[in-house]
Amino acid sequence: MIMKIPICKPVFDKAEYRLITKPLDTGWVVQGPYVRLFEEKLARFTRAKYTVAVSSSTSGQFIMSRIIGLTPGDEVIVPAFTWISTANSIEFLGARAVFCDIDIETFNIDVKQIEQKITRKTKAIYPVHLFGLPANMSEIMKLARKYDLKLVEDCACGLGGKIDGKHCGLFGQGGILSFHPRKSITTGEGGMILTNNSRIARLAASLRDHGAMKTDFARHHSKGSFLLTEYEYLGYNMRMTDFQGALGVAQADKIAWILKTKHALAEEYGRRLGEISWLKPPYVPDGYDHGYQTYCTLFKPEETIKAIVKNDLKKIHALHAERNSIMAKLESVGIATRQGTHAVHVQKLYRNKYGFKPMDFPVSYAADKLTVALPFYPTISESERDYLFKQLGKF
Ligand SMILES: Cc1ncc(COP(=O)(O)O)c(C=O)c1O
Repeated sequence: MIMKIPICKPVFDKAEYRLITKPLDTGWVVQGPYVRLFEEKLARFTRAKYTVAVSSSTSGQFIMSRIIGLTPGDEVIVPAFTWISTANSIEFLGARAVFCDIDIETFNIDVKQIEQKITRKTKAIYPVHLFGLPANMSEIMKLARKYDLKLVEDCACGLGGKIDGKHCGLFGQGGILSFHPRKSITTGEGGMILTNNSRIARLAASLRDHGAMKTDFARHHSKGSFLLTEYEYLGYNMRMTDFQGALGVAQADKIAWILKTKHALAEEYGRRLGEISWLKPPYVPDGYDHGYQTYCTLFKPEETIKAIVKNDLKKIHALHAERNSIMAKLESVGIATRQGTHAVHVQKLYRNKYGFKPMDFPVSYAADKLTVALPFYPTISESERDYLFKQLGKF
């Protein structure tokens, strides 16, 4: 019998159904008390001093890029293997996303290659905590200090990702979580800026709201509500609705359980992959907590690494065809898999703009072609897991 196993599944129960209708009762459906409560819960979980909810992680990345003062001519170093929005938030402001290759062990930026990318124009580094594993922040912070660079962390996948107990997003100026449904908790769309800097938090709260000095909720609930507030900055509408805030409140109460369950699943997957040598489980350095937004494996690790070392594009393409045929067969028996993420330098936008070739960033290109994300969500049942590994075992 064919089972249908999705790549991920959000965890919703009565709490979400109950809370998401609350804004309907009061009629206050734009950013309001539930967004505030969601922010407070995330601040408590991450131990960020300040949290600012936004319409998506991409919006938050854009806001942070404004706050650190990116202007045309500036350069920002980003990994080439990430979601395209990390680079777009830089390019939108006329600055240049300078790609850096990744480390095949962690899928995060290769810290050994960052320094050679730094020029007089470099203003910042945007590390990405891909799939929930924090990037090597101690090395990145050393470079930021040495060259006086800003650090904005792409924590879209990073909920629960920590280094020595410190949550990602809090190493530099700020970081942004995503609540897209592929993430550990979801508000449909949504994001959250984490920062320990009060000035950045105030500015971010204003920039998400047209540059307003006071939120609509605060104005409507204070004396003189008939007067509009002052607008000081060039802002935009990147607010989260209170429906999403309410959903977030219900989801936030599940974070500890979701992450604990994902850790137990990751341990089990790692064990079971011991018998499947053609998929390499994720690597977690000592002192790091993986958030396990995605369980991303590497296809035929030995051959892949050999192909990268030899700069062998043909071999990467041959392995890619093999990987895809297995993924297609898994799809035909109801099992969803995905490539981990994409190599941004070979997306048409960046190829056309900068003339990049695949092997300009060979590890990122190989990761694009040769990663396999497995179905991974807290409610995946034992029989679904047995079915998944039975099917994987057939190859
Ligand atoms: C690494 C990374 N950055 C940014 C984003 C964008 O997040 P959002 O969809 O909330 O804008 C994603 C989403 O998949 C991501 O994986």
